[in-house]
Amino acid sequence: MNISIIGLGYVGAVSLACLARDGHRVVGVDIDQGKLDQIAAGRTPVVEEGMVDLMQAVLATGRVSVTKDVTEAVHATDLSFVCVGTPSAPNGSQDQGATLKVAHELGAALRTKAGPHVIVFRSTLAPGTVEEVLCPVLERESGKTRGEGFHIGFQPEFLREGSSIRDYDKPPFTVAGADSAHTIDVLRSLFGHLSCEFHATSIRAAEMLKYCCNNFHALKITFANETARLCEALGVDPFHVMDLVCRDTQLNISRAYLRPGFAFGGSCLPKDLRATMYLAKKTDVELPMLGNILSSNRFHLEHAIGKILRSGSKRIGMIGLAFKAGTDDLRESPLVALAEHLLGKGLQLLVYDPAVQLSQLIGANRRFMEDHVPHLGALMCDDLQTVINESDLLVVGMNDPGSVRMLLERVRPDQFVLDLVNISREQRAPGRYLGLCW
Ligand SMILES: NC(=O)c1ccc[n+]([C@@H]2O[C@H](COP(=O)([O-])OP(=O)(O)OC[C@H]3O[C@@H](n4cnc5c(N)ncnc54)[C@H](O)[C@@H]3O)[C@@H](O)[C@H]2O)c1
Repeated sequence: MNISIIGLGYVGAVSLACLARDGHRVVGVDIDQGKLDQIAAGRTPVVEEGMVDLMQAVLATGRVSVTKDVTEAVHATDLSFVCVGTPSAPNGSQDQGATLKVAHELGAALRTKAGPHVIVFRSTLAPGTVEEVLCPVLERESGKTRGEGFHIGFQPEFLREGSSIRDYDKPPFTVAGADSAHTIDVLRSLFGHLSCEFHATSIRAAEMLKYCCNNFHALKITFANETARLCEALGVDPFHVMDLVCRDTQLNISRAYLRPGFAFGGSCLPKDLRATMYLAKKTDVELPMLGNILSSNRFHLEHAIGKILRSGSKRIGMIGLAFKAGTDDLRESPLVALAEHLLGKGLQLLVYDPAVQLSQLIGANRRFMEDHVPHLGALMCDDLQTVINESDLLVVGMNDPGSVRMLLERVRPDQFVLDLVNISREQRAPGRYLGLCW
């Protein structure tokens, strides 16, 4: 394939070298004449393992050329990858100046190009940028319409400096964000041979994914470092502890706990986080990330309260009260906290949770209910149908399949449903669904 790469920094230069190595003809574009001269001489413009030899080898094939002129590059190729920088602006926002400038130049080049062209952005971009900011520029400058005169896409780049050629050949996955089968087909033909999964998705999801991955990596590093600082203060070997943490591939290094849902609670996580923070205070260790988890959890609860209040419903039916289905443990259940807030706002409440019938509660849970939330006992109802009949809004906080199925069979089309358990879209019955996060 004939491919142009605009922006020859770490991402662009490594992509140029690897695509040329794989047999494609590649035109490199940059505003930095020094980088173009280096590539034209078979030298690497970035310091990266393996690039010195690879650049020499690909230049010798005659498949690599360079230019400062975007129009020349677009006319000579079928596909352009945009790899220019998107650094931080002083206020923390993304400086999209380079991508905007490239979009203007690409649009102008498309105006005079006869055949179709695919433009895939590989620079990290805030969600919505390609479709709402860059595509309108392309359409205006080219006089053509997306999907007709040209195709667009976003493919997040996952290479890491220092191992970028290896990462190019063995990425965690390939994610192609596009709204046209043509763009997906082109990206599959270029990257489908790699030994990883290939996922086609929307442009916006692909843009968001890149931020999510980087944020998750930053979170993991900070978790390990905060843990290490506390370990050091407590005389524990942090490497040994983190090695053991990573050996649990069931709950720790796994998909567990990574599905969005309601706030966490229960008898362990909140109390152990508080105890951790107390240890940090006692040993003068600063743990800002761990220290903010409980306040983030509270924001999530408030988010749900806001959705309920904004619906205008006065009669609320809660399906589930314990911190998870199948248990009668009410200690620090976020659903109990939600119920308390709603009562405090003067709303009428009925609660259905078959595992939490006051008559059946024993021991610590009975004491908890009598001591902490005695008024909730009177609001418990053991008949789901009654709760549904007498509510304007149902909060589904229990993902027990039997109750969810029964609820979905009986929910009225005029009734609001605040779904805290991610009922699948196919399962949803008529009703006015308010997802927690959508
Ligand atoms: N560096 C990484 O490891 C990495 C990994 C994944 C994603 N990314 C993302 O990829 C993008 C590029 O990162 P990078 O590290 O390669 O950047 P870089 O700063 O190393 O290179 C950017 C290149 O774009 C060129 N450029 C700027 N304006 C231009 C224009 N108008 N026309 C042509 N060329 C222009 C610059 O001269 C420079 O050579 C960024 O959005 C970054 O966030 C980087």
